[in-house]
Amino acid sequence: MSKTIIVSNRLPIRIEKEDGQKVYKTSEGGLATGLGSIYKEGKNIWIGWPGISLEHEEEQEVEKELINRNMRPVFLTEDDVEDFYLGFSNQTLWPAFHYFIHHMRFVDEEWEAYYNANRKFADAVSKWLEPDDIIWVHDYQLMLVPEMIRKQFPNVTIGFFQHIPFPSYEVFRMIPWRKKLLNGVLGADYIGFHTYDDMRHFLSSCHRLAGYSYERNQILVKNRLVEADSLPMGIDYGKYLESATSQLAKAKEISYRDSLGSQELILSMDRLDYSKGIPGRLQAFDKFLEKYPEYQGRVSLFLIVVPSRDQVASYKALKEKVEFLVGHVNGKYGTINYVPVHFYYRSFPLDDLSAFYRMCKIAMITPKRDGMNLVCKEFIASREHEDGVLILSEMAGASKELSDAILVNPNDQNEMVEAIKKALEMPLNEQKRRMKIMQRTVKKYTIFQWVDLFMNNLKDLKERQQSMATK
Ligand code: G6P
Repeated sequence: MSKTIIVSNRLPIRIEKEDGQKVYKTSEGGLATGLGSIYKEGKNIWIGWPGISLEHEEEQEVEKELINRNMRPVFLTEDDVEDFYLGFSNQTLWPAFHYFIHHMRFVDEEWEAYYNANRKFADAVSKWLEPDDIIWVHDYQLMLVPEMIRKQFPNVTIGFFQHIPFPSYEVFRMIPWRKKLLNGVLGADYIGFHTYDDMRHFLSSCHRLAGYSYERNQILVKNRLVEADSLPMGIDYGKYLESATSQLAKAKEISYRDSLGSQELILSMDRLDYSKGIPGRLQAFDKFLEKYPEYQGRVSLFLIVVPSRDQVASYKALKEKVEFLVGHVNGKYGTINYVPVHFYYRSFPLDDLSAFYRMCKIAMITPKRDGMNLVCKEFIASREHEDGVLILSEMAGASKELSDAILVNPNDQNEMVEAIKKALEMPLNEQKRRMKIMQRTVKKYTIFQWVDLFMNNLKDLKERQQSMATK
């Protein structure tokens, strides 16, 4: 029986050392949940990095433990982490793909490290691959893996999904290794993006930079039919609804409310990342309180920033900027019994998040650029009483599906200020009208539906390729 091999930079588990002991922490992330239904079944496996650099002697023991959990580790050295992960992946590709071109750098050694690390992942696939297996590679850290596998196994079935945006050709062409990256991805049969625009940018780059012609969403790569597609990723709707309606979340909400008082709360929750537009949101909130002083004392921003990539200079600088702005707004408008910005620099377990989703009537998700954004979908799923308002950046992939949010351009401070006012003053029936529509969408297109669709489309394409070959 054939199996499915999932490949991503991170495994759905992270090893951390606490008092010298290894602790295995399972990821709560959307992808881990969605693909859980696949990799935990039968012979299926998930290949990836366990998030820690280990001594050689420790690797065997970890591998054994992970094999029991249907996972196979790719061990990265500290140098790999520095140059492949923090370097090329997150200081060349990440900024380029999010249109932060002033943050991107081009370092030959980091490109080489990216190539070599991709080779490690491809080798791990080869090690475990059996005839008729299906391989599904994820995200920008592993763009070369599909081609590396294809060269060794010309007929194997490979899917690739890009979780972050794919930029316009004009930005993508700036990367010196652009053609190699495209050919890397084109080793896959079926290539998924969150939005139609990401797919279109990819196809246009394939044509203009690598000389491939395409018709609709199909490209012929050395006589092999490759298809690109847009498949917006969803969430486990039931899990968020269930958690938000649990006794625990309700009890937490009541106890937090007791301390907070009756202020209206605006939720902002992101990983620490310049693409998320956190400073712009704080500045908009500052302007809002200045322009509409009647709201001072009546509304607070509930700002959660989850630590991420904090060894990278631009992330460190961002943290300082956010801390400065929080201090600035709190110093300007705070009183003995009014905290304008409640700031938390840490992650929270699901029942806390659910309590936050319950108690904040407004969620303000205004990234400068985001492949999809699942936080806004989690907020929607958690609104048991169908009330609440979502302020959403039009630069987030999710905005294509959630047009009943108040959509804003995150670079337009005045528009964001007015959006906050509109959200606070939106009549209940209008909130419900919009929320119901958004709930219907998020409930229908779940992460499970996304996984099934991707796998079915991939298999279907493979069959079409085979019937083309026999004609
Ligand atoms: C984004 C990327 C993922 C990545 C995640 C967390 O969602 O699409 O591939 O894993 O950010 O970033 P990290 O650098 O901690 O893996």
